[in-house]
Amino acid sequence: MSRVTIFGAGYVGVPTGAHFSRTHKVTIYDPDTEKINTIRKVIENQSDELHIHEKDLIELLRENHENIFLTDNIEEALKNPEFIFIAVGTPPNEKGRANLKYIYSAAEQIAANLSNDCIILNKSTVPPGTAYLVEDIIAKGLKNKVNFAVGSCPEFLAEGTAVEDLRTPDRIVYGCDDREALDKITHFFTFLQSSDSLCPMTTLSSELTKYAANAMLATKVSFMNSLAILCDTIGANVREVQEGIGKDQRIGSKFLNASMGYGGSCFPKDTQAIAEYAILQDSPLSIIESTIKINDATTEYFYNKIVEDFKDNLSGINFVIWGIGFKARTDDLRESKPVEIAKKLMDNGAHVHIYDTVPGALVNFERENSKYSGSFTLHHDQYEMFSNEIDGLIIGNEHEKFRNPDIDKLTTMKHKYIYDGKNILNNYLIRYLTKLQFQYKSVGKDSVVNGRDRTKLVSFLQDKYMD
Ligand code: UDX
Repeated sequence: MSRVTIFGAGYVGVPTGAHFSRTHKVTIYDPDTEKINTIRKVIENQSDELHIHEKDLIELLRENHENIFLTDNIEEALKNPEFIFIAVGTPPNEKGRANLKYIYSAAEQIAANLSNDCIILNKSTVPPGTAYLVEDIIAKGLKNKVNFAVGSCPEFLAEGTAVEDLRTPDRIVYGCDDREALDKITHFFTFLQSSDSLCPMTTLSSELTKYAANAMLATKVSFMNSLAILCDTIGANVREVQEGIGKDQRIGSKFLNASMGYGGSCFPKDTQAIAEYAILQDSPLSIIESTIKINDATTEYFYNKIVEDFKDNLSGINFVIWGIGFKARTDDLRESKPVEIAKKLMDNGAHVHIYDTVPGALVNFERENSKYSGSFTLHHDQYEMFSNEIDGLIIGNEHEKFRNPDIDKLTTMKHKYIYDGKNILNNYLIRYLTKLQFQYKSVGKDSVVNGRDRTKLVSFLQDKYMD
């Protein structure tokens, strides 16, 4: 059993701390007293509300409460840890670069308070080289004579599935240039994960791996999104193409769902950050620059489908949005595509009725969008807003509640437009909806309704492909 301190009680810090507490003694530190008290109340069964929404997290914290110590006091946090994991935010600045001010501050506080030998690992997503910077800050500010090593241990959990992702990860990536420290980190993880999932490496490779993984996944989505637009143009179905390529194990079936664009706190931020970093290093990653451009263009493409149906005049038009989080099962609205669409619609005079399966997502939407008050209504029931005043339904995320809707409850709609931003309705349902006079629009599946213009394609080939 090792003594670990987690620096930062956010989306990464709390689930990671809870996971480590299965087999290690964990101190979770955050200078924000309110966050620490919120976790304490949950652990002590006085409340069921955490500041982050994660399935099974509360149970995990309670189950391991004997191994968890919470504090907002830096001296207490750094009393005697063998490992420190830094899990603070690295939000992008106006240039798309990761802002390292919280990392700096963590390093300075560690330097001022560390009083025993320790390995410091950075979990936050940072530009490669940051561990060296942290090492220099600590070395410079160190108050006590202790030995320390700094490395990287990026986190790959996805929001909404953090507990499960931590329990059964595909791999644990960590890097440290100090061989002895690297072996100690390996030893630490062998108590938590199967040893064939462990990927020890150098510090820089580990830091770069985090960006590389998110950029690769985002590129898969953008690749499918650009194919989806071609599918709509010629009359193919992107879901069928997805199936056809995804079954090739070299490609893999995950992260191939075309959508109105990817969002969240990681893909947009990390693709920007690595693209910018590579330019600054004179080694541009033009493929990732394209990934970013395609993502923006896909959202625009989807939004234009909506406004075209109303001849560019949205004044007095009412939309329902199912799912406002950047994906299902999260209250996180950072870079959420449904939020972006909602704002554009409201900016152009429409009213939006919003439902999400996570009540916290609605609370956050209201808090962050007070300037739009009067232009939106929040709902805790998926169907209560449907009436003959509703003109369109927008499916914002991939929650299964939206996959097979109760169609009888939608038939009162004035204009029966359904915009499937995540391509989740199946062909059978789409055809059935069409029979009921609904108009279905998506990103790459319009052919299910519109068929294809065979004659046009044949004359295109005759014209462009025959000498
Ligand atoms: C992601 C990575 O998956 C995780 O490993 C990393 O640590 C953090 O970033 P997260 O942002 O929580 O996790 O969500 P994820 O499930 O990856 O989805 C990101 C976005 O891509 C969402 O908007 C989602 O709807 C979208 N997406 C995902 C698609 O549009 N199509 C897909 O096929 C998959």
